[in-house]
Amino acid sequence: MRDEKGFDQWADGYDQSVRQTEEADAYPFAGYGAVLDQIYEKICRLDSRCILDIGFGTGTLAKRLYQDGYEIYGVDFSSNMIELARQAMPRAHFIRYDFSRGLPKELDGLAFDAIVSTYALHHLSDGQKVSFLQELLNRLTEKGAIFIGDVAFETKQQLCDCKKRYEREWDEEEFYPVFERLAPHFSAECFSFLPVSHCAGIFTLTKNQTA
Ligand SMILES: C[S@@+](CC[C@H](N)C(=O)[O-])C[C@H]1O[C@@H](n2cnc3c(N)ncnc32)[C@H](O)[C@@H]1O
Repeated sequence: MRDEKGFDQWADGYDQSVRQTEEADAYPFAGYGAVLDQIYEKICRLDSRCILDIGFGTGTLAKRLYQDGYEIYGVDFSSNMIELARQAMPRAHFIRYDFSRGLPKELDGLAFDAIVSTYALHHLSDGQKVSFLQELLNRLTEKGAIFIGDVAFETKQQLCDCKKRYEREWDEEEFYPVFERLAPHFSAECFSFLPVSHCAGIFTLTKNQTA
């Protein structure tokens, strides 16, 4: 499992390495741009101003929202990722914190219109994902939504097929979210999955209604 030092080392080359895998339409980043584009469009359709990005990295998605005038909060444990994101978003509120411990106290009392996380929550086990998503639900405004984009699958079988196809590259230390595993923990009308590529998709989670 890549720790904060691993992400510090990856920070400078991160955008380029994502682009290369994405262009090859290969695991793990096939569909990366489409995942971010679709989350961006979903947020634009909400009546939202205040966004929290969990594991924002170099800030590829957050930057677009920042440039549109959204108020951006973010949590990431890599100082080098934070530094790169801060250069592009000087007025954003970035907190260095390990989200496997939940949310930092600096965010206490705040509510967000949208909470996003792309290619980061696979660092949590399934049990941790469920608890963390429940914690995030409590931080949403009434009509807010959580959008999770990641290496992700609708079924366990699809994950197994992908793992077989990418046997040599597969990262055994990452826990990719699978809709049929997570769905029993949330009410059906508030939780949905949209496949975007053969190895990526977007989960949407709301308090009351589908975003
Ligand atoms: C693969 S990058 C994704 C970056 C960005 N969201 C994107 O879509 O390109 C994962 C990011 O999550 C951060 N991250 C991973 N595990 C974390 C943890 N436990 N706590 C805080 N940040 C974490 C890493 O530092 C890194 O910036």
